[in-house]
Amino acid sequence: MARLGVCYYPEHWPQSRWSEDAAAMFEMGLRIVRIGEFAWSRLEPSTGNYTWEWLDSAIATLGDAGLQVVLGTPTATPPRWMVKQHPAILARDPDGRPRKFGSRRHYCFSSETYRDLACGFVEKMAQRYGENPHVVAWQTDNEYGCHNTTVSYSDAAAEAFRLWLARRYGSIDALNQAWGTVFWSQEYSDFEDIDPPNLTVTEANPAHQLDFRRFSSDQVVSFNRAQVEILRRHSPGRDVLHNFMGFETSFDHYDVSADLDVATWDSYPLGFLDQGWCDDDVKARFQRQGHPDFAAFHHDLYRACGDGRFWVMEQQPGPVNWAPHNPAPLDGMLRLWAWECFAHGGEVTSFFRWRQAPFAQEQMHAGLLRPDGSPDRGVTEVARVANELAALELPDTDRGDIALMIDYDAVWSLEIQPQGREFSYLRWVFEVYQSLRERGLDVDIVGPRHDFDDYKALILPCQPYVSEALADRLRRFSGKTLVGPRSGSKTRDFSIPGQLAPGPLRGLLGLTVLRVESFAPAHLEAVQLGNTRYDAVLWREELETDKQVLATFAGEFHQGTAALVENNDFRYLACLASKPLLDKILSDFCEWSGIELAAPLGDVRLRRRGKVQFAFNYGTSPAEAPAPGDAAFLLGGRRLPPAGVSAWRTR
Ligand code: GAL
Repeated sequence: MARLGVCYYPEHWPQSRWSEDAAAMFEMGLRIVRIGEFAWSRLEPSTGNYTWEWLDSAIATLGDAGLQVVLGTPTATPPRWMVKQHPAILARDPDGRPRKFGSRRHYCFSSETYRDLACGFVEKMAQRYGENPHVVAWQTDNEYGCHNTTVSYSDAAAEAFRLWLARRYGSIDALNQAWGTVFWSQEYSDFEDIDPPNLTVTEANPAHQLDFRRFSSDQVVSFNRAQVEILRRHSPGRDVLHNFMGFETSFDHYDVSADLDVATWDSYPLGFLDQGWCDDDVKARFQRQGHPDFAAFHHDLYRACGDGRFWVMEQQPGPVNWAPHNPAPLDGMLRLWAWECFAHGGEVTSFFRWRQAPFAQEQMHAGLLRPDGSPDRGVTEVARVANELAALELPDTDRGDIALMIDYDAVWSLEIQPQGREFSYLRWVFEVYQSLRERGLDVDIVGPRHDFDDYKALILPCQPYVSEALADRLRRFSGKTLVGPRSGSKTRDFSIPGQLAPGPLRGLLGLTVLRVESFAPAHLEAVQLGNTRYDAVLWREELETDKQVLATFAGEFHQGTAALVENNDFRYLACLASKPLLDKILSDFCEWSGIELAAPLGDVRLRRRGKVQFAFNYGTSPAEAPAPGDAAFLLGGRRLPPAGVSAWRTR
């Protein structure tokens, strides 16, 4: 059953207020409350001096009011006394400087000392609350990677990296060969001689950099796993989760999620828009609603990470404090965001936070209540969603027709060598997603190791390293596949494949990439598709192929060379595409795959959950829900006001 929740910090408020808060939460329709994730200094104020009593009472107060508690392990905030005793637990930035105490996330994932301290505390916490009837789930740590904290250049990281390399390569000769260290006399004679790839005069060896990114990701995975194992041992039957972030790719989220029951994420649509890559006019248009595809994109991503199970652990409740500008949401958006999460299959939407703190870093961050404890504007919307939820039975989510591959390893290798400054993997993938969503498609995201056999169509927007296993599964896939530029262009060890790109996909795609180039954003490269001229941007490739050419480059230097090639059930795109070209290629691809598209939806977005079809209006003017004439509406109606939500039953 879908539920609403909230994030609460009992340690910020007098104990005399807790029962009033708990009762008000329940009354508002909230059923889940997350607590504890930053409370270490109040739970262990000095080494080994545990003060659980206040947390015992907080859990009892919340539980007795009818709320289910998600307990966070506070390991994102090692307290001052601990840092004083063990200064080496601090992470180090790329300049080798310690990331000092004074905010949060200052620890290094590779510090064995910190791991022992963190696990020791988690063990104590799990022993005390593991069987508590009010505790229904655990959150490990808080937002791994936030504030750029996945990668650390500490001595502990250097040491752990060397061991990781020794395990991966077995011999130093194998590493030298894999990395191509003969280039610039970089050869090593011992794993002990290898440092993290920071502070080099110019670009460090890219294979070295990629391995350091992979290693750093693995450190997050094992740090998380150590906590999960403890929690499972002491708290059987409870879900273990972590709250991931938006647009955060510094570690492999599929790998971390593999150890969890549910992938949760923190959704701040207005902050993401203002901070992100969109043009100023888009930012202005959606400043109070957020980009129509940002939240949906992450719902779909984290549904994939959680193997079908995801929550929004933190939902923006009003203006936030951390973006360059922090407007208030349009009235109705809290409700829209909550329903959109449920429409994408989410189990819980939990608002961050209950009451705005009048002190410290986030005093300018709204809560559901104002700093004085009076209800802020969002409260009526939350209560409305709670009532609507109670009246509507939500069916299970089933899979869509089309799968979009997102790969964290691809992000890292393309950050290391993007070939053109403006290229962003995530942005390109998002543009593909957006184009499909604008035509009403439900999109499932898959990782390179996920199963995609049953889809009608698969898109690999850009997949530099294609493993033999992935190539095999593509060979057996019976749907249609669209493969984007630079796919198959690297080996696992960050070299160009012996027979050139697309490496293991050469046979399937029926082409070879002879040359690649990149442009400044102002340069548009003409592409002819049917009778229309479009533009390629940023990247172009020169192909050799005897297969069917569907589009050609039409600029003066490359007149007539292949831009889009079809071979059996595969299409290959040899450039990045401007929006009109991308829209055209994707709509043709869907048609070819037997997937029906809606007419362009403007600011409206659709999402089906089982037999319930939802429509959301992200625009500031009224719109029409594309429902059949005789639709029986479960929420709203045909007219979608700004921030409006409608839902109807499909046949
Ligand atoms: C999240 C974080 C919360 C809080 C929030 C503010 O990134 O998990 O602790 O800082 O942002 O928007």
